Amino acid sequence: DAFREVPVHLRNKDHLDFESIREVPDSHTWQDVDDYPSVDTAAVGGVPVVDLNDPNAMKLVRHACETWGVFQIVNHGIPMTLLQEIEAQGRRLFSLPAEHKLKAARSPDGISGYGLARISSFFPKLMWSEGFTIVGSPVEHARQLWPDDYTQFCDVIEEYVKEMKGLAGKLMWVMLGGLGITKPDLKWAGPKGDFKEASAGLQLNSYPACPDPNRTMGLAAHTDSTLLTILYQNNTSGLQVLKDGSTGWITVPPLPEALVVNVGDLLHILSNGKYPSVFHRAVVHQTRHRLSAAYLYGPPPNTQVGPLEKLVDLDNPPLYKSVTWNEYLETKAKHFNEALGTLRITS
Ligand code: SIN
Ligand code: FE2
Repeated sequence: DAFREVPVHLRNKDHLDFESIREVPDSHTWQDVDDYPSVDTAAVGGVPVVDLNDPNAMKLVRHACETWGVFQIVNHGIPMTLLQEIEAQGRRLFSLPAEHKLKAARSPDGISGYGLARISSFFPKLMWSEGFTIVGSPVEHARQLWPDDYTQFCDVIEEYVKEMKGLAGKLMWVMLGGLGITKPDLKWAGPKGDFKEASAGLQLNSYPACPDPNRTMGLAAHTDSTLLTILYQNNTSGLQVLKDGSTGWITVPPLPEALVVNVGDLLHILSNGKYPSVFHRAVVHQTRHRLSAAYLYGPPPNTQVGPLEKLVDLDNPPLYKSVTWNEYLETKAKHFNEALGTLRITS
């Protein structure tokens, strides 16, 4: 139950009827969308793109993780058709009428189902987005949405999650390999090093077109509480990241066939601070509907994650104590707002 969150009630179903809203209501008005200026990516260089078939991939990934905490990958082995299918299912789900989607609403203490952005409870304003979280089987919720035809949704989800799990395990070794970590160094990767017992969830996000995108927020700034996150975004931009030392938001452009990989907080801990988790957010578009699918990947249940022994010595003391995914989430929930405060650049 690593995905339990502080519940946010769907305060008013009208809030979810984005299509009919002509003006951003006060409930969704954000003051500080331009808290940092946008950065000219031509000047800083964009988020690195790594071809996983490149013989230097491990080195390039290491550099990306150390300096950005995020990178895009191509030649990742996920069929384009599967990416198109997950997008089509997301579209199909989010285009249902609001009352209908609410039949599959996440319960106040639940994990899976339809609802507001998972981090909504930490913010006073609502975000211009809706989400659908899947941990374990999607059948129960899919049945509520499409009583006579729930299997096509479930089949695509099942296939997507299976492929993502394989890719996430591979990425773990590419990312850790850059730090000299090999299979014997990480017991909880299992005897074959295939992370068979890893926990994971899939988060589908929908960002409807917005008449006034500069006055609202699609998904507020945060770091992911995962080891790593693999994100598919459709052909509409919106994802933005802060690069360590940079002075503003940098857009991660959607590239056909590419996936975005975020370093999460637990990999930050595991790497003893060598790989920072990336601070990111999603903004919305005036005329286009944006969709994304985030595969959230973490350690097996009840597994303690702490700085890897090989990365700790007299000159490099452990920077973090060991935690399970659940313990980490509880601590983060308690300190969420303080953490945001320290990350905010004041002018
Ligand atoms: C996320 O941070 O979970 C999603 C970001 C996005 O939709 O680009
Ligand atoms: Fe995220």
